[in-house]
Order: sequence, then C-alpha cells, then structure tokens
Amino acid sequence: KYSICIVGGASRYTPDMLTMLCNQKDRFPLRKIVLYDNEEERQNLMGKYTEVLFKDYYPEVEEIVYTTDAKEAFSDIDFALMQIRAGRLEMRESDEKIAMKHGCLGQETCGPGGFAYGMRSVPAVVDIIKEIRKYSPDSWILNYSNPAAIVAEATKRIFKDDHKIINICDMPIAIMDMYANVLGKTRKDFEPRYFGLNHFGWFTNIYDAKTGHDYLPELREILKEPVEFKTEALFEEPSWKSTFNFMSQMIRDYDEYLPNTYLQYYLYPNKMYKKSDPDYTRANEVMDGNEKITYEHLEKVVELGRIKGSEYDVDPDAGCHAEYIVDLATALANNTKEIFLIITENKGSIENLDRNMMVEIPCRVGVHGVEPLTVGEVPTFYKGMIENQYAYEKLTVDAYMEGSYQKAMKALVLNRAVINTDVARALLDDYIVANKGYWPEL
Ligand code: G6P
Repeated sequence: KYSICIVGGASRYTPDMLTMLCNQKDRFPLRKIVLYDNEEERQNLMGKYTEVLFKDYYPEVEEIVYTTDAKEAFSDIDFALMQIRAGRLEMRESDEKIAMKHGCLGQETCGPGGFAYGMRSVPAVVDIIKEIRKYSPDSWILNYSNPAAIVAEATKRIFKDDHKIINICDMPIAIMDMYANVLGKTRKDFEPRYFGLNHFGWFTNIYDAKTGHDYLPELREILKEPVEFKTEALFEEPSWKSTFNFMSQMIRDYDEYLPNTYLQYYLYPNKMYKKSDPDYTRANEVMDGNEKITYEHLEKVVELGRIKGSEYDVDPDAGCHAEYIVDLATALANNTKEIFLIITENKGSIENLDRNMMVEIPCRVGVHGVEPLTVGEVPTFYKGMIENQYAYEKLTVDAYMEGSYQKAMKALVLNRAVINTDVARALLDDYIVANKGYWPEL
C-alpha cells in the first residue's frame, strides 16, 4: 500500500484526482494521503472534503493529512504528485492580459504568457522539490506543473542525477481520449508514437495495442473536418472548445502526422489572438466558472458531512483522464513497462536533435524509471520548429538561473508568438513589474 502527497492539494483539479484514486483502489491501494499547499483556507476545505469523500468511498485509507508544513507533508511518502500554479489564476490573468496588451496571443503556457509563468513556476517547483528531497530522498516525483516544458528543462539542470523526477503532461492523454472518442474506442486500445516538446509535438502513429494497426491515417481523414464529439462532458468545457479550434485546419494545412492542439498558438498566432478577448481571458473564464463551482460544491459536501447518495455524489466508476497519473505510478511500482509520453532528455532518441534537449517522446516505464524509445530522424520542418522553440525554453531557464535581462529578451524574441525585439522589451518590462516577488531580479 502506498503513501502519496498531492502537492498543490488545494487545486481545483484535486477533487477529480481524489475520485480517481477511489476508483483505482484495487490497482493502486493507498494507506495514506497528504494534501500539501500554501493556501491554508482552501487547503482546509479540500482536506475536509477528502475526509468526507474517503469516509464514504475509501475507508481503507488509514491516514488523511492536510498541511502547509513541508516536513509533515513529505516525510513518509512514496509518490509526490506535483500540480502547483505559482501565483494562482490572478497571475495567469496578468500573464494573458499583458501579452494581449502588446498584440500577442494571451495563453498560459504558449507565447509570452508561458514565459512569464515559467519564470514564476521554476523557482516555486525547485524549492518544493528540494524540500521533498530533504524528507523523502527516494520518493517518485511525478511533476505536471506548468509550463511543463520550461519546468522540465530547469529540473533536469538543477536535479541532474535524480532519475526519480518524472515530468509528464496530460495533454497527449486528453488528445488520445479524443481520438478514442471519435473511433469509439478507449485510450488504452492505443500505443502512440510521438515526438516534439511539451505542448509542441506530433503524433506519428496511433497503433492498436493488440493488432499493431495504425489508426493515424483514418483519424487524419475524420479530423480534417470539425467533428462532433460524443457524450464526454470534458469536451463541453469552453477550454476544450478553444483547445480544438484550429485542429482541423492544422491537419488540412500540414500533410503528415497529427499535431498537438497547442501548436495552433504558434502556427496561427494572429487568428488565436483575434479569437480572444483582451479584457476577459481564459483565466477569467476559469475563475468565474469552473473554479467557483468547484469550491462551492466542496463547501456543500463538507456542510452535509456525507457524499454517497447525496445530490453532490461523485461517480467513482466514471472514466477520468487524471487516471493516467495512477497508470504511471502503477507502472513505476509494478514494473509494467507500459508506454507513456514523457518529457525527458533526448539522449539520441531523436537522432537529429540535441542529446540534452528535453523532448516529449514515448518511453517505457518500469521500476527503474523511464526508458525512451527510439524515434529516429525528424523531417526538416519539424526539426526547425523544435530547435527554435527549445532555444526559447533554454534561454528562459538561463534567464532565471543567471538573472539575465538580455537572455530573457532573447528568449522572447525566439518565441514565435513574439519575434519583434521592441515588443519583447515592452513585454518584459511589464512582466517584471507584474511579477515582483515571484521572479528573480533581472
Ligand atoms: C490542459 C493542458 C494543461 C493546462 C490545462 C488548462 O490540461 O494540458 O497544461 O493546464 O489544459 O486548462 P484550463 O481549464 O485551466 O484552461
């Protein structure tokens, strides 16, 4: 039985994660769960909610802890699941709106917003990992804090030999869920092949896990036109609608592979800009919608003191894409050698790209961690795109580590959503003011 800590435990993503843990108890049995956060009020609410939920659905868990104390949180854990958002949604709003003020697309991980968020997220993630390592040097750290590409580049450099830090993103999973939805299958029917960087990659094959049949050509045909997704509530969410905005156009415009939907921000930056409202960005949508609803819901459950059979009941059997985290933990614990798309050091897997690049590629996962599969060479267009974007990511981490304004500006100039030096400077100057107390001094 395992002991896990959810780092960023007060997040609006935690309730889904908790339901999924209840759902997966046979496969991944817990003895202890810890919620760690620096937001005491929300943390207490989430902790009390966990107690109610687990009383009804997971009484086997012996210990439920919610704390803002690192020692209490990280001693005696097998897995840390990291999902922090440095500066919360308020700073996401600032990232997105400053970008739009300067005529660039406003998005949390892509374009200049992702840069600003990266400079905030890296110090926060690094500090927490240091704390985790102080109290549990041997635990697996499954990190999916955003912007994952930049965070992964920083963790690689700062925790050089720590192969137990694994960086993973839910987006390829969500996209595969969408493919499964379109084909009337489940994600687990697939074995993907993929290359690129985080939020910047391409599926090259979607193999059937049993027969080896490649679904990619038929998926390309279907997805060339906007599709109506079947039932899944997931796809009703506005974020998902915008996530899939230009997917069909990307597929029509580029004649190979299936793109990660986030590429639309770089391939059609002007269109993405025009589709957004500079006064009401995704951060506002989330604050007024999903986030508000989630915490109201938690309060009601805590007030009632029970959940099973009530109007607030969860469906512990419902499919949930957060399940991939348990899949990953199970693979590490039980040496299943399943394939996951992981953000990891290239080390020759993509032959014509830098060996030290943090790429997102298929890896087998077992007790010894991740083992990348061979990808081979990638064609010129993709190589160029990836190298440019990775240079931007590297310079962002350099700027953070050296406190360098020049490097920060160069990073922004390399970002395909910025390019112009005057714009880069203006963005940087505004972000420096907005991020006081979060960023290192530049
Ligand atoms: C997907 C991405 C995440 C991102 C999230 C944003 O899951 O992979 O990287 O954080 O979408 O969702 P939101 O609802 O906050 O816009």
